[in-house]
Amino acid sequence: MESTRSTPADSSSADEVRSHWNRVVGRRGFLMGVGTVGASALAGGALPGAEAFADSSRLSSGDAAILRFLAAAELLETDLWQQYAELGGVNGGNPAYIAALENLDGDMPQYISDNTDDEASHAAFLNAYLRSKGAEPVNLDEFRTLPSSKATGARQVGRLTNLQSLDVDTSWYTRYRSPMNPDFGATFPQAVNIRNEPAIPLNDTDTPPGMSQPVPPTNAKQRRMQAIANTAGFHFAMIEQGGSSLYTTLSLKVTSLEVLRIVVSIGGVEVNHFAVWHDKAGNAVAQPLAGVTDPETGVTFPDLNSPPFGGELFQTNLIMPEPTDFIRKGLPKCSVIRPSTVKNSGAMAAVEALTANKLFQGQSPKFFRAAKALARAADNAHRGMR
Ligand SMILES: [Fe+2]
Ligand SMILES: [Fe+2]
Repeated sequence: MESTRSTPADSSSADEVRSHWNRVVGRRGFLMGVGTVGASALAGGALPGAEAFADSSRLSSGDAAILRFLAAAELLETDLWQQYAELGGVNGGNPAYIAALENLDGDMPQYISDNTDDEASHAAFLNAYLRSKGAEPVNLDEFRTLPSSKATGARQVGRLTNLQSLDVDTSWYTRYRSPMNPDFGATFPQAVNIRNEPAIPLNDTDTPPGMSQPVPPTNAKQRRMQAIANTAGFHFAMIEQGGSSLYTTLSLKVTSLEVLRIVVSIGGVEVNHFAVWHDKAGNAVAQPLAGVTDPETGVTFPDLNSPPFGGELFQTNLIMPEPTDFIRKGLPKCSVIRPSTVKNSGAMAAVEALTANKLFQGQSPKFFRAAKALARAADNAHRGMR
């Protein structure tokens, strides 16, 4: 029964176990950081000391992957919002586009400019935070290859995103009016069928920048411009509801409290944007503006308050989220952001949805590989305890 006796040999082996354990824990902490510092720091022979191994200020590889995907998403958002702001923002250069947007709401140019500023701040902050943690920031500059609009007001620079022929998914409109939740398998009809429609004016022949935009529009060029502005109105809300779900979904995978604070705090602003745009989009499909058809594409914005529309799924002033199934059926319905599952609103789901909407039409295979690699890494993150 020797094992019950405490001997000097025993206590020394206990010390060994303890020091081995510290090495294991430290090593694990170090490995979590490796993905974030990149190989160059190691190749330079600058191996951190033992204390640094357990440095809790280092990002876990999962947190870094989440922040890197979000930084990429914010760079893409900034790129599309800049295109809207150049043409239709408060200092926008296309008067007819601005007038058509103002037919949805007089504050549209201001909101477009402010939304653009918010996205730029999100992208800059996330990259600066990554850098401050010794992690690699995200740079998409090599993919700024898509053409600008030729319409008055647009700068002639390479773009990351393509707003010139969108399939805007408008099912967010009926989803948030429905008591059903996509995370339980529910699907939702489109509010408006927007296919191959520009969200910004393409040139000055189609849509002269100096024309008036009466309500309702009276000639073909005015109708085309109004349909383009209406498409933008629905696209604004589509982008921001996507951000609301993406941030909610990825927040559940975050390890560090500080990173969680970043993700939920930026995510809250995406929700704020969505709520505003949801309200404005409804004005495109309510009187007196409803009924506009683009003479070139045939895309029509019907009156969603009248038959065969109307009712809970379509009525335009029902902009507050309807309580829905949440967590488990059997619990009371709850008014929440949805979807919030990796399958429906994780990083890869976001890339696939934006691709299906043709936001990246014309991008290189390398762009899609890069976007998917960032998305896969973020979706693979697991919440740990620190
Ligand atoms: Fe954002
Ligand atoms: Fe956003």
